[in-house]
Amino acid sequence: MKSSYKIAIFASGGGSNFQNIVDAVLDGSIRGEVALLVSNKQDAPVVERARKAGIDCFVLNPKEYSERSQYELEIAAELERREIDLVVLAGYMLLLTPVMVDRYAGKMINIHPSLLPSFPGMHAIEQAYNYGVKLTGVTVHFVDGGMDSGAVIAQEAVSIDDEDTLSSLEAKVRDVEKTLYPKVVSWFADGLVEVDGRKITINHIK
Ligand code: GRF
Repeated sequence: MKSSYKIAIFASGGGSNFQNIVDAVLDGSIRGEVALLVSNKQDAPVVERARKAGIDCFVLNPKEYSERSQYELEIAAELERREIDLVVLAGYMLLLTPVMVDRYAGKMINIHPSLLPSFPGMHAIEQAYNYGVKLTGVTVHFVDGGMDSGAVIAQEAVSIDDEDTLSSLEAKVRDVEKTLYPKVVSWFADGLVEVDGRKITINHIK
């Protein structure tokens, strides 16, 4: 029998979102366990964070595979072996193929630093800042086959004020990510997320 709700985090970079989720598991606000870090980069700071936290790492270099689907099949086999319940993308810099997207439909989420569908893709904070919008924010969404196009689970707005610089805006976005992603992961671990096509409902009070 499975002992707990198992989370795998995919990340390629600094790992602040990874850390936020690990910390929320440690303080009991997520009732589950981070069972695995998956990364495509051996030297990414997030790998060091995982080692420090005693979390298993599965690091594979996609360049060693002629087909991206082969690379993902190997990851999917590891996730299945570990009976992973939820895949959490946190700055994972590769687009996923149907191998992962289809297998984990409804069980794979991503965080994006804008109010989607505005500013999908890379450099979203900079895009919003340069565009001159007065409101941006953070979105947590399901992963589908497109670029940041899956159903929205949660969003939180961040205002862009006259005195903001790009770096102060980045700091505000990071602050929102810090609380939003762990909160959404806890909803999944507690079985509160209801899906009806693109309409996602959170059953806060049962
Ligand atoms: C975050 O801004 C997240 O929204 C985006 O990638 C960035 C990852 O940062 N998807 P980190 O590696 O978690 O620090």
